[in-house]
Amino acid sequence: MTLINTTPAWQALTAHWSEMNTTHLRTLFANDPGRAARMTCTAAGIYLDYSKNLITDHTLDLLFALARTAQLEQRREQLFNGTAINTTENRAVLHTALRNRSNTPVMVDGHDVMPDVNAVLMRLERFVNQVRNGEWTGFTGQAITDVVNIGIGGSNLGPKMVCQALKPYQRPSLRVHFVSNIDGTHLSETIRDLNPKTTLFIVASKTFTTLETMTNAQSARRWLIDQLGDDSAVRHHFVAVSTNTEKVTAFGIDPAQMFEFWDWVGGRYSLWSAIGLPIALAIGYDNFTELLAGAHEMDQHFHSAPLENNLPVIMALLGVWYVNFIGASTQAILPYDQYLEHFAAYFQQGDMESNGKHVTHDGERVNYATGPIVWGQPGTDGQHAFYQLIHQGTTLIPCDFIAPVQSHNPLGDHHAKLIANCFAQTEALMRGRTLEEAEAALLAAGRSEVDTKRLAPHCQFDGNRPTNTLLVNEVTPRTLGALIALYEHKIFCQGVVWNVNSFDQWGVELGKQLATIILKELESGRVLNTEHDSSTAALMDYFLKNR
Ligand code: F6P
Repeated sequence: MTLINTTPAWQALTAHWSEMNTTHLRTLFANDPGRAARMTCTAAGIYLDYSKNLITDHTLDLLFALARTAQLEQRREQLFNGTAINTTENRAVLHTALRNRSNTPVMVDGHDVMPDVNAVLMRLERFVNQVRNGEWTGFTGQAITDVVNIGIGGSNLGPKMVCQALKPYQRPSLRVHFVSNIDGTHLSETIRDLNPKTTLFIVASKTFTTLETMTNAQSARRWLIDQLGDDSAVRHHFVAVSTNTEKVTAFGIDPAQMFEFWDWVGGRYSLWSAIGLPIALAIGYDNFTELLAGAHEMDQHFHSAPLENNLPVIMALLGVWYVNFIGASTQAILPYDQYLEHFAAYFQQGDMESNGKHVTHDGERVNYATGPIVWGQPGTDGQHAFYQLIHQGTTLIPCDFIAPVQSHNPLGDHHAKLIANCFAQTEALMRGRTLEEAEAALLAAGRSEVDTKRLAPHCQFDGNRPTNTLLVNEVTPRTLGALIALYEHKIFCQGVVWNVNSFDQWGVELGKQLATIILKELESGRVLNTEHDSSTAALMDYFLKNR
């Protein structure tokens, strides 16, 4: 297949940018009073204002043409109909089936997966209710007060992010903790103050082979047995979530205490599956289904809306515009909601593990940029850390600002102040401040003429820095579900344009393999492998001599 950057649609965008790259957003707004009203899109309770982007209507037309050249509509159909679009692993990609609340059949290899999905949901519901109402007890007959999810990557970040985001829906009598890092500190610090008699461990791993998770799970098991003095305590305190029954059994967890999911669920898209167990335990099964329902609503919008009025498509194409035509290599996600503390970290994996690829589906090396570096943290803390660079640095950083209209904690005027900051940042990034405006402001503040001349260049802002603003009425299970699905589909659309497989992750393998070799050497106390480069060998040597 021809590379996307050789197509007329791509070349038209390149030419378009060279024509419009001197037009400032201020001018676009000044010349077009209808801009903001036109450049908005609403779906599944999410309002997107994308008017503060470096685009005209013509840019959008060209971007939609690019999407059609990449056959986005056909690929979108394949996503939903169970085609094996994860081509390197020959798997369907059906996280949408996990939240298919319409319950319409979804076929994989001639088999409708919906009865399997529903059966696991029913088991989850029963188990969650038992734990939450105290019927499921530990070894000594006491109700569970603490749940520790042991997992990493997709088996950790999603549930951790959602549990934090939906904290107002949790009850204090059941606390949920997350252990992911193989650093013994993570597990030790988490279990230090826990009562083993009332602690439930969830070992969450799609493959059930991941080094970090298996190591943490073994140590947690040892701790529990040491504390309770009986091997048979394990079955009262350990459940598993996995696709691998054999490995779960080999670990010593009864398959009856395993919640299943399937190879057509990618790890970083798995929070909707049994991997969401800690979420359901934390917020209750009904709220978990609301999360699924919100995502389903976004799925329906994404599946059926024309590209021109399709929230994930618009966000995806804006991202492509910046990455490929304007040269941005990063994307910031800036939630103005403390509960969305882990949202950017979650989509760091979601986006970077999906689209951090250098070859097309056919294995041809791309000669255009693919996935950007995704990062961010909640406002207003970020404002006092890295926003300086976004405003006046030399790197273009497109930003998504996300905010709820209502706060779960309406404390005095905190929320109005928070939102005022959010809107002010996008306005400042768009408008900037001219040298003349900077001088006028300095003079008005009582600075001398000399000082004003000296300081004005430092106080001038170019502006013209692009932002999206996403508003939800309140961060509820439903709106959060829709918001997550929106970003998932955005990532999918970008992968389609770049013609990369967004659903594999071969790039994490090499480091894992080398770690296994190095571990053996560290354990033996000697550097055995003569193939190590001199730097790695010296580091190992230093560690061995100084430990
Ligand atoms: O980081 C690589 C990866 O395979 C992720 O894709 C996945 O989410 C994570 O490891 C954990 O994998 P598992 O759920 O199989 O333990």
